[in-house]
Amino acid sequence: MSCTLRYLRALSDPTRLRIIALLDKDELSVNELQEITRMGQSRISTHLGLLQDAGLVQSRREGKRAFYKLSPPSNTTADEFVQVAIRGARELPEHADDLVNLKRILGRRREQAQVYFNQVAGRFDRVYGPGRSWEAFGHLLLRILPPLVVADLGAGEGLLSELLARRCRKVIAVDNSEKIVAFGAAKAKRNNLKNLEFRLGDLQNPPIEPRSMDLVILSQALHHAQDPARAIDSAYNILKVGGQIMILDLARHNFERAHELYGDQWLGFAESDLHRWLEGVGFSHIEISVVDREDQPPHFETVLAGAQK
Ligand SMILES: C[S@@+](CC[C@H](N)C(=O)[O-])C[C@H]1O[C@@H](n2cnc3c(N)ncnc32)[C@H](O)[C@@H]1O
Repeated sequence: MSCTLRYLRALSDPTRLRIIALLDKDELSVNELQEITRMGQSRISTHLGLLQDAGLVQSRREGKRAFYKLSPPSNTTADEFVQVAIRGARELPEHADDLVNLKRILGRRREQAQVYFNQVAGRFDRVYGPGRSWEAFGHLLLRILPPLVVADLGAGEGLLSELLARRCRKVIAVDNSEKIVAFGAAKAKRNNLKNLEFRLGDLQNPPIEPRSMDLVILSQALHHAQDPARAIDSAYNILKVGGQIMILDLARHNFERAHELYGDQWLGFAESDLHRWLEGVGFSHIEISVVDREDQPPHFETVLAGAQK
């Protein structure tokens, strides 16, 4: 059958003209079309089926719901017929009501979408949001990082190193536990992270070339060092001029059991200590602040200290 005949057949009915005129305004579900036109579901579905067969309308599924919209014009004839149909619909007595009902239904759709966010406004950042996680935010922030060469000292099994390796040119993860290094290296291999290298060593004297790193990270590692000032001095030595150090650690606390529970040498650090050590070895642009406080006792606080060589 020729295109023209197919379009003429599909549009030779006032209800189908109404549907075309409505779908020209927005994508609609069968239920919404029912409510707008006040026609039964099977009638609407039959008309939609005919319009779809003619190639004038297309549908998509969203779970159990199907939505319909005008097909993008495949040729000028289809477009001309759709325009004629829309003009024809405007001549129908139901047209004015259709437009009023359409406006109401689209307004309700917008309100429904906002109901949830209106309910959680003011506490949205604290409630569960599907797909929203600090890990995802981490990936987003990593995308804006330049391709750095990074040393992660006291890296553990590489939680942070692996994240960094997905973006950075090279990551060297140093840890003094043989088992952890073996485990981390095997995991990096499994995850095909060829630019992540685990090295066994002490963060107070890391096995890394002097002046070779853009960034040194000590994440919850400094409080394990016998001599934190020496660790900061070593970090300075392996950084290139202009490189950055980033320390995440616990703020000074009184939870003595951290020694036996977590093997901690130090009960966190005062911001003034970190500042003194950083300044003492020559770092500049020092910024230190508490960035997190745990809800549960003993309410550990996390300090972030950053500085530049
Ligand atoms: C609390 S974990 C932190 C791991 C990781 N940086 C993180 O933020 O998830 C501390 C790690 O430091 C390592 N560590 C402790 N003392 C160290 C030292 N003197 N030199 C190198 N690594 C050390 C431990 O083996 C452990 O893997």
